[in-house]
Amino acid sequence: MEFFTLRVFRYDPTKDTEPYHQDYKLPVEKGMTVLAALFKAKEELDPTISFRYNCRAAICGSCAMRINGHATLACKEQITHLLEKYETDTITVDPIGNVKPLKDLIYDMDWLVDKLKKVKPWFIPKAPPPPDGKEYRQSPEDHAKIDYASDCILCASCMSDCNALKANEDFLGPMVHSKAYRFAADTRDGAKKERLDAVLEDLNLEWCVRCWECTTRCPKEVQPYENIIRLRIMADQEGYKTPGAIHAEIFEEDIKERGLLNEMLLPLKQEGLFGMIKRAPFGIRMFFKGKVNIADFFGGHKIKRLEEVQTIYEKAKEKEKEVTIKIPQILGVVYEDKRKSKLLKEQRENAQKEGGNQ
Ligand code: SF4
Ligand code: SF4
Ligand code: FES
Repeated sequence: MEFFTLRVFRYDPTKDTEPYHQDYKLPVEKGMTVLAALFKAKEELDPTISFRYNCRAAICGSCAMRINGHATLACKEQITHLLEKYETDTITVDPIGNVKPLKDLIYDMDWLVDKLKKVKPWFIPKAPPPPDGKEYRQSPEDHAKIDYASDCILCASCMSDCNALKANEDFLGPMVHSKAYRFAADTRDGAKKERLDAVLEDLNLEWCVRCWECTTRCPKEVQPYENIIRLRIMADQEGYKTPGAIHAEIFEEDIKERGLLNEMLLPLKQEGLFGMIKRAPFGIRMFFKGKVNIADFFGGHKIKRLEEVQTIYEKAKEKEKEVTIKIPQILGVVYEDKRKSKLLKEQRENAQKEGGNQ
């Protein structure tokens, strides 16, 4: 293919009532990124195209945009790879989602900054600087806890297609939660409580619908969804009674007493009588679909061989100090943390060996 079409989102609020797309025919050049293609179109075909950029090296986060529908960094994506990946001759660029476009690919960043400010995305030391005048230090193991999260470049690709954010603009969003985690989990930071209070306000942390889109979109492997889970675990460990923790306790109690969950009494136990009444229409619909077991309202039945489940439960309780995690979904996070610690250990050992050989 000699040429491709760069289809650019255009919008100038001073003269356009609606946004539209404009096509630019460009030669396919090996190694050309989407950002470079935008420059070529601007310099050679149309100087009015507006977009943001800075580093051109995938480290400043300025050039995030939707490319063929997916948020990513324009300076990271190569045209030839995209044409092959999407089996097309057209690359479409739009502003990231969940934002208000200002002009073409430039969008209003105030909403992001306002959200970020709520979690104080800067280091607040818990102790005075070290007496030797050097930097605040931490062990490699402690750093491993924030290693992924500290790679965030605030590009907002993860915010682009966050389903929770789409439904609720008060949701802080995966970028902000990740930043909160990065500092709250830093052993040198002294504002863990303030940061947790901010992400837990109005159940904010609970609004994530676990779609994993943010982690899929993140160009720096920051694992924003996993950082939300890590914040939940942290809140639990710090003694916060979050709805998630209450939910887990009710599940635990049900398994211990009956060997299975009692979904009918869950709203009552979780949210009280008011919550039960609120969910009544849903319960009635479930009843007519044959999904309600009336006996469950009176405690329900116990499974056969309950004692076997209870033995497993007791064994798990004995191990509780070693495994502080309760929910299976977060096993992936534990695995990642272990993998990272192992990698760091190997890197240190290799570095020591190389140092010893010199
Ligand atoms: S996993 Fe949660 S935070 Fe991430 S995109 Fe989905 S809803 Fe948003
Ligand atoms: S978490 Fe990833 S996608 Fe989100 S702002 Fe940070 S680097 Fe960008
Ligand atoms: S220009 Fe800096 S990340 Fe693309």
